[in-house]
Amino acid sequence: MSDNIYLPYRVTIEKITQEAPGVKTFRLKFNDETLAQSFEFGAGQFGEYSAFGEGECTFCIASSPTRKGYIECTFREAGKVTSALATLEEGQTMGFRGPYGNTFPLGEWKGKDLLFVAGGIALPPMRCVIWNALDTRGSFGDVSILYGAKTVADLVYKHELREWDERPDVRLVTTVDPGGETPDWKGEVGFVPAVLEKMKPAAKNTVAIVCGPPVMIKFTFPVLDKLGFKPENIYTTLENRMKCGVGKCGRCNVGDKYVCKDGPVFSRVQLEALPAEY
Ligand SMILES: Cc1cc2nc3c(=O)[nH]c(=O)nc-3n(C[C@H](O)[C@H](O)[C@H](O)COP(=O)(O)OP(=O)(O)OC[C@H]3O[C@@H](n4cnc5c(N)ncnc54)[C@H](O)[C@@H]3O)c2cc1C
Ligand code: FES
Repeated sequence: MSDNIYLPYRVTIEKITQEAPGVKTFRLKFNDETLAQSFEFGAGQFGEYSAFGEGECTFCIASSPTRKGYIECTFREAGKVTSALATLEEGQTMGFRGPYGNTFPLGEWKGKDLLFVAGGIALPPMRCVIWNALDTRGSFGDVSILYGAKTVADLVYKHELREWDERPDVRLVTTVDPGGETPDWKGEVGFVPAVLEKMKPAAKNTVAIVCGPPVMIKFTFPVLDKLGFKPENIYTTLENRMKCGVGKCGRCNVGDKYVCKDGPVFSRVQLEALPAEY
């Protein structure tokens, strides 16, 4: 990369998938072929994605580091930059800088069971870890995924949900909020914490990875406590507003921690040591 840490790489949009209303996945290829082959990152890291002339915004890298030659991001149209990105088409160029932040400690989880709990648009940061774990399946015990959205239409990665559902080595439970179901919906109906309680996952030897809106996290942690999960075996990823992504601007700090450098991945033990504002 150039000496200017804010200069983005140029990437070409290879493929666009409309995941849900207002939610798209971009598959991005680095224009520099050498970089495309050498680029490395870890599950949980994020980047700054730019629409030229509009600005940058922060998304996790939603593809797995085990899949080489491209990266993917999934984003919801929220405002200025995401709306500009949403107008881009396959073959067009945009900017990317990263990878930034820390990673989920997959190496430490070897031999353990994994429980993924995700809500809404928070499946993208988790998809990266899920595929990383499934692509190295022999390293882990049971893999369970609980994913909920407001309505059936809002579920993202529908094609991959089907794939995970068909795998004998994955337990997938999907749920939608009451009223969000369609007549042919075969999943659960209920909020994620209630469905988790019903699933009764074993806590012994299991790491829980929880990503979702703050309200989902707030009600999911007590359920994990009740099921016997220890705080050191619970992980999440924070999405505090960011600008530089590299610990320079002070936009993302919580107490003495910069979410962009010390995070975005935190264990629950680390979260409990942060001021309540996180
Ligand atoms: C580490 C990290 C990872 C993220 N990963 C993803 C991802 O994978 N997919 C995705 O869709 N989004 C993700 N986000 C959120 C994303 O960065 C914002 O939605 C985006 O920057 C909005 O940019 P904008 O210019 O379109 O919106 P703006 O015009 O800047 O703002 C539009 C609205 O969105 C709100 N907003 C902006 N940023 C955030 C934020 N970080 N949290 C909550 N509300 C916000 C604003 O307050 C405003 O109400 C992530 C954020 C962080 C910090
Ligand atoms: S985003 Fe600038 S310090 Fe974290």
